[in-house]
Amino acid sequence: MGERCWNPSYKGENPAHVGRGGCWIFYEACKKSVEESLKKLKTDYIDLMLLHQPFGDAYGAWRALEEFYEKGILKAIGISNFYADRMVEFASFNRIKPMVNQVECHPLNQQIEAKKWNDKYGIQLEAWAPFGEGRGGLFENPVLKEIAAAHGKTTAQVMLRWHLQRGIVVIPKSTHKERMAENLNVFDFTLTAEEMAKITALDTATSSFFSHQDPAMVEWFVKMVEERKEQQDSSNEKKAW
Ligand SMILES: NC(=O)c1ccc[n+]([C@@H]2O[C@H](COP(=O)([O-])OP(=O)(O)OC[C@H]3O[C@@H](n4cnc5c(N)ncnc54)[C@H](OP(=O)(O)O)[C@@H]3O)[C@@H](O)[C@H]2O)c1
Repeated sequence: MGERCWNPSYKGENPAHVGRGGCWIFYEACKKSVEESLKKLKTDYIDLMLLHQPFGDAYGAWRALEEFYEKGILKAIGISNFYADRMVEFASFNRIKPMVNQVECHPLNQQIEAKKWNDKYGIQLEAWAPFGEGRGGLFENPVLKEIAAAHGKTTAQVMLRWHLQRGIVVIPKSTHKERMAENLNVFDFTLTAEEMAKITALDTATSSFFSHQDPAMVEWFVKMVEERKEQQDSSNEKKAW
């Protein structure tokens, strides 16, 4: 069971933390967010909690996650969307190193360099959008289709198997029960080195969504955090990509 902790905004009282439009106390807000997650999930521990974005006072939020980790309430803590430069900095200047880094990863954006850096720091790479949400025609990709046919599998299964053979954790999402079963059924075949290489050749090293280093996207995130101060409900937020 995993959860995400937004680097949140919180209307607190400490003037030392005054930011745009009010006081942002990331440490307090992160603590509150974890407590709310525990309550919503009706549990007294969470297996993995990730800091969702590398923005704002991520260090303050991380202090809160470290404390929950040390109390055994969070069994593992990690980060998400930290590109290699931010990951190296964050892993180097914190007391407890992140255990997981969840980033966009699929055959069109393979994170080859990022994987090397996360491996170097002992941080487990986890793929969000392991199918790239099907963007760029991934489910119909002829290379994947050919490999899938050779193993009597689907292109979805080939993609998941490819991630796993690279040592990357996957969290595919489906609203269909039969696809969930399909996505779990990937442990009875192995891709050859040649097949792995054919998939490597599909890499464009470009996001199918957006870059967390794009200032316009950072502005969009800032605006969303501002709006959250008012509504406190993230379930209806619209994606900007
Ligand atoms: N950390 C972050 O910033 C971040 C960002 C984005 C996503 N995520 C997380 O990553 C996880 C997965 O990402 P995602 O949903 O964006 O992308 P994804 O898993 O790559 O793709 C999901 C899409 O693939 C389809 N699908 C699933 N299994 C299939 C199969 N076997 N055959 C054909 N189509 C299949 C689903 O359709 P159906 O539902 O119709 O089956 C859905 O449209 C989610 O838990 C999400 O919350 C995290």
